Amino acid sequence: MPNVRFFSGETVPLEMHKVRVVQKLNLPPIEARLAAATEAGNNTFLLQNKDVFMDMLTDSGVNAMSDQQVAAMMVADDSYAGSATYTRLEAKLRDLFGMHWILPTHQGRACENILAQVLVTPGSIVPMNYHFTTTKAHIVLNGGSVEEIICEKGLQVTSSEPFKGDMDVAALERLVAEHGAEKIAFVRIEAGTNLIGGQPVSLANMAEVRAVCDRHGLTLVYDASLMADNLYFLKQREDACKDLSIREITRRIADLCDIIYFSARKLGCARGGAICIRDEQMYQKMRGLVPLYEGFLTYGGMSVREIEALTVGLEETMDEDMISQGPIFIEYMVNELDRRGIPVITPAGGLGCHIDVMRFLDHVPQAQYSAGALASALYIVSGIRGMERGTLSEQRNPDGTEPLANMELVRLALPRRVFTLSQVKYAIDRIDWLYQNRALVGGLKFVEEPEILRFFYGRLAPVSDWQEKLVAKFKADFGDSL
Ligand code: F0G
Repeated sequence: MPNVRFFSGETVPLEMHKVRVVQKLNLPPIEARLAAATEAGNNTFLLQNKDVFMDMLTDSGVNAMSDQQVAAMMVADDSYAGSATYTRLEAKLRDLFGMHWILPTHQGRACENILAQVLVTPGSIVPMNYHFTTTKAHIVLNGGSVEEIICEKGLQVTSSEPFKGDMDVAALERLVAEHGAEKIAFVRIEAGTNLIGGQPVSLANMAEVRAVCDRHGLTLVYDASLMADNLYFLKQREDACKDLSIREITRRIADLCDIIYFSARKLGCARGGAICIRDEQMYQKMRGLVPLYEGFLTYGGMSVREIEALTVGLEETMDEDMISQGPIFIEYMVNELDRRGIPVITPAGGLGCHIDVMRFLDHVPQAQYSAGALASALYIVSGIRGMERGTLSEQRNPDGTEPLANMELVRLALPRRVFTLSQVKYAIDRIDWLYQNRALVGGLKFVEEPEILRFFYGRLAPVSDWQEKLVAKFKADFGDSL
């Protein structure tokens, strides 16, 4: 997707696809949005889709498919065992990653379950650039623990560093020296670090991590769920990749790894997942768990239609026009917000635009779930559904105290090829209005707090009548406009 210069001088991202199937959207008036937010306990997970205008909750399983993917779904070979559809996926993964042994799963966290069951032993540790919620849960469930060794620049909210997802290689060496290589279950690199703003990992950093793994006989596992965005950033930002094709960069990454797994809800714009393994013995150890938890070895819990779509989607990931769409829209949004002085994570990464709520709502205490309050306020003033990524997403300590998150973020995901630029401009405009009126936004308190995964099901209420005041100001400024 190119950024083209208009005659007026403005530079605008230009879509390299056209829309051929559409879904009607609804933008209810602001009073109805306030009622829907209240009904949902101010938790965006509990909103009904009919009340949501732009669904920016996640990029998982909601990316637009291409005509070729949809067409491929029609020729799926529906059989329990020996499906030709599966053989096509296996061949595509072997071709792209150069790893022979493939295991299909129903989604990314299912890969994590299998990897953790086979590789993690009680007391072992898994160093990684940054954790993802489901990854950590499976490691902990199997008695292991996670050591996050993100490079120092990774946690700086505003920055111009191109690869904030890099691992601190010296810290990895220190961990090996301190615990011994036998305590390390595996080393994990997550492409496009999800929880800290979709920031990419450089190929140079991966090569350094590989060298440490070689010195100590460690297994290197790559979570490729957000690889499409990471590939685009490598092509753009790393000199060594400038003259390589996306396919060549893919193979350079894979050549450094022992195991690659992914959620096909993100990579390949379908639904499902897979583990790709270099070593046959490792494959043998994991294979038995697929029929146990997923399904037979030639579907792994996926529908054959999704497998066909995934195979085509993986090939389409080798097209720079395709993989650049998400990052370029995100960059447009992040830069426009930044230009207006609105605090966002910079530089723009993959997955979505991340609002830095500690600065956006610096008057709302973290203990009043400032990121949750902003997600609720944004829905009320725009019909946009984002995701809280802050204190509300943390688990309360056993003594009832509240661990305050390192970052308070509202994540606004941009599922691939789903939104148009005018919708993105609408989002920018309403966020801008909310920022100008941020003093009106107050905190939230729990009225129903589940013990586990409270961010999914918890219900909250405003600590004052701030939402009514926000609605009144919106009506004063916009009149009857939605
Ligand atoms: N790894 C990463 C980096 C992810 O972002 C996800 C999911 C998973 C693994 C698990 O994959 O959902 O197919 O089981 N991320 C979603 C999100 C849930 O909204 O960011 P899954």
